Amino acid sequence: MASANHISKVAIVGAGGNVGRFLTEALLKTGNHDVTALTRADSQSKLPEGVKTKTVDYSKPETLVDALRGQEALVITISGRAPIKDIEEKLVRAAGEAGVTWILPNEWSPDSADDGIVKDVFLFGMKAATRKLIEELGKSSYVAVSCGFWYEYSLAIANNYGFDFANRHLNMYDDGQTKLCTTTWPQVVYINSFNVSQMDMLASAQRVTGTKEGDWKIEKHDSHERFDVSLKFFKEGKFKTEGFTNFLYSR
Ligand SMILES: NC(=O)c1ccc[n+]([C@@H]2O[C@H](COP(=O)([O-])OP(=O)(O)OC[C@H]3O[C@@H](n4cnc5c(N)ncnc54)[C@H](OP(=O)(O)O)[C@@H]3O)[C@@H](O)[C@H]2O)c1
Repeated sequence: MASANHISKVAIVGAGGNVGRFLTEALLKTGNHDVTALTRADSQSKLPEGVKTKTVDYSKPETLVDALRGQEALVITISGRAPIKDIEEKLVRAAGEAGVTWILPNEWSPDSADDGIVKDVFLFGMKAATRKLIEELGKSSYVAVSCGFWYEYSLAIANNYGFDFANRHLNMYDDGQTKLCTTTWPQVVYINSFNVSQMDMLASAQRVTGTKEGDWKIEKHDSHERFDVSLKFFKEGKFKTEGFTNFLYSR
């Protein structure tokens, strides 16, 4: 029997929180996920509609193992005001014991794999320690989501991106020109390694092969024209022609 090619059973900590709420709603919206919130008995969090719940007690790790049994992934979004280190360690160990294959640890931050950032903002060291623990236990794998600061969240707090909109006041860092990476909550996830042009690629190829521009036959095309022609192929149902890749890459 063919096995499913996607994770369906997802447990989430913080399903009613700032970050977790968006993740939970997005998972439920796909219709492909069975989402269970691990929540405390005295929780005040309002959970998204459609999410199942399991009550856990962080002072009794066996409740975590029970709640996680049968889950394929554990997503952790714990409040910055909670004793994250202790709670996350318990969750990671419980996930290993319960046989949870994937963990999305409590990352949701600027790049905690960047030694320079971790050295300056030592709080992010905790995130690196969790990844190390998952590796050491060797029972689960992780996907650490490094999203920078959340845009809506950080814009709304005057001390974060510096804007006090009500009073039209801005605390500007230096000349305000330093760019940073930021992520919006309800969004597609973007993964890029670098920005590169065809000329950059050509330069790399020439460097590696020890060739020069004159050694290459460069045929120039108008990208708009190439797109329009390939779109025409598409509309005629000729998907298998080179029109397909031209269509994607000329856009
Ligand atoms: N990149 C950014 O700009 C940014 C911004 C905000 C947060 N973050 C990161 O995202 C993580 C989640 O933040 P958030 O703002 O989404 O958190 P949050 O909304 O304040 O809380 C998330 C959940 O934590 C649980 N919780 C609260 N206090 C607890 C306690 N004492 N013990 C155990 N669990 C407790 C609650 O779950 P239950 O009530 O269901 O038990 C709550 O729903 C943070 O740790 C931070 O690293 C990043």
